[in-house]
Amino acid sequence: MNDRVLVTGGAGYLGSHTVLTLLESGKEVVVLDNFSNSSHHSIDGIERICGKRPIVVQADARDSLALSHVFQKYDIEAVFHFAGLKSVEESVRTPEVYYEENIGTTLNIAEQMRIAGVRALVFSSSATVYDPSETPPYGEASKTGPNNPYGQTKLLIEQTLTDLANINDQWSIGLLRYFNPVGAHPSGHIGEAPSGKPNNLMPLLMQVGIGKADKLFIFGDNYDTPDGTCIRDFIHVMDLARGHIAALRFLQKTNGIHTWNLGTGIGTSVRELIQFVERVTGTEIPKEVVGRRKGDSSVAVADPSKAFNELDWRPEHTIENMCIDHWNWQKLHPDGY
Ligand SMILES: NC(=O)c1ccc[n+]([C@@H]2O[C@H](COP(=O)([O-])OP(=O)(O)OC[C@H]3O[C@@H](n4cnc5c(N)ncnc54)[C@H](O)[C@@H]3O)[C@@H](O)[C@H]2O)c1
Repeated sequence: MNDRVLVTGGAGYLGSHTVLTLLESGKEVVVLDNFSNSSHHSIDGIERICGKRPIVVQADARDSLALSHVFQKYDIEAVFHFAGLKSVEESVRTPEVYYEENIGTTLNIAEQMRIAGVRALVFSSSATVYDPSETPPYGEASKTGPNNPYGQTKLLIEQTLTDLANINDQWSIGLLRYFNPVGAHPSGHIGEAPSGKPNNLMPLLMQVGIGKADKLFIFGDNYDTPDGTCIRDFIHVMDLARGHIAALRFLQKTNGIHTWNLGTGIGTSVRELIQFVERVTGTEIPKEVVGRRKGDSSVAVADPSKAFNELDWRPEHTIENMCIDHWNWQKLHPDGY
């Protein structure tokens, strides 16, 4: 069997850390990315850390010709599919763009994999598939019911891939539901570099920390939580990357469709995260409490025991490590790559 993995969206935040981890584990990697939300410098960063460079194909994952060419040219063993759009807010404004891109990329990949006879696929899903009215922690069997188009695209893709695996038992598909990935490789050579204004809490905090934004807005402090702010399950991006390697190992032995939460099971409130960041950066983060955001649930924490047991995987990094590594990356790259 060959040892080459195709990673769509491999130049992006989560993809680049996973490509690094794959290369370090001895795999060869082909990155397919259209660089709509990433930079070629992330590939340089990967090489700087591990001395190896993935093959890079600049193409859209909806381009069937480009993808079929990749499968013909390289002997691919498995696909990690990260490519797609990821902003909840943007998906509310332009749902049709999200449905077209997220579902379009996945259908094309599944089709080209079928033609090429490649049957192992790891898909980047999200905790947003869970119904926010469910009682946390969320296990994989918790009720789904996303309240935004982005989450709907993830759920529809999960359902499509489940149908695919159910009619043909040669497929082995992993649906990884990520909670809140943060942090960066400890070297600071790769990290999260959102183009435009970031949407997520950690990059926003970092922008305030380095003085690129005036203050952090806290969306509601009257939730039913100990300090009134929302609670989330943050996971270090390197732990998330290792989770993918563990999932691939499992899928190489077991066919069918498998869903795993990738989270720590530990909740951290928005206020607690701010305090950690203030400690790490040595600065006070200016903040203002504003009204709740539509659709935010008070607590979203994983029950990750299925991944712990089946994948023999455990997150190793503390919330403090996550803040230290993210800050280190941000200080070294104040303007991104
Ligand atoms: N970061 C998170 O908090 C988070 C949480 C849950 C799930 N996810 C999912 O994980 C995946 C990766 O997220 P990320 O944070 O690394 O995002 P990212 O934007 O940093 O990476 C996505 C990559 O895909 C590329 N891309 C986008 N559309 C493409 C297309 N049509 N063809 C080829 N390449 C394309 C982008 O250029 C980018 O390099 C996404 O599917 C996202 O929905 C992310």
